Amino acid sequence: MEANSARIGIVTVSDRASRGEYEDRGGPTVHAWLQKHLSSAWEPVRRVVPDDRREIEACLQELADQVGCCLVVTTGGTGPAARDVTPEATESVCERAMPGFGELMRSVSLQAVPTAILSRQTAGTRGGCLIFNLPGNPAAIEDCLKAVFPAVPYCIELMDGPYLDTHPELMSAFRPKHAKQL
Ligand code: MTE
Repeated sequence: MEANSARIGIVTVSDRASRGEYEDRGGPTVHAWLQKHLSSAWEPVRRVVPDDRREIEACLQELADQVGCCLVVTTGGTGPAARDVTPEATESVCERAMPGFGELMRSVSLQAVPTAILSRQTAGTRGGCLIFNLPGNPAAIEDCLKAVFPAVPYCIELMDGPYLDTHPELMSAFRPKHAKQL
């Protein structure tokens, strides 16, 4: 790994994918989207966990505290089914809530599908790590990343994390004018 490349956790939350009964489509979609859009050095750290609150919490804690990820993106487990507990696990490991992420993702997703309001996706920070949830559907992943990611590099910069940048022809990372430009 490059010395100063940003570690980004990609966590698929799915009982079936974690048992190998179902191909993980969410994790590879997030990975490919980041690969395409990020121009700065980064390293993916991939995990697949079941819809179990304690296992999700342990995974998020490991990625934030031991692996040192500046960002962790989860996919799946945000709906209203009994086994959907990703938002609860995220809230319980985060020290601070970032409600704007869920608000914006539901708002843009609602333009695609009326069932967008069924996602309880949330976000927060744990130490120097930003954690946010995406639904499991690959189309939803694209819609949601496109909406929130312009604000992510500056968020991580404000948290004293690594400098993330994007390919401007695909997506501009928004930084206020007073922010440092590398
Ligand atoms: N958001 C977008 N953009 N596109 C979608 O297809 N699916 C919705 C919602 N958000 C969807 C979406 C549905 S049907 C559900 S149940 C919730 O996300 C939760 O999905 P999850 O349990 O896979 O996280």
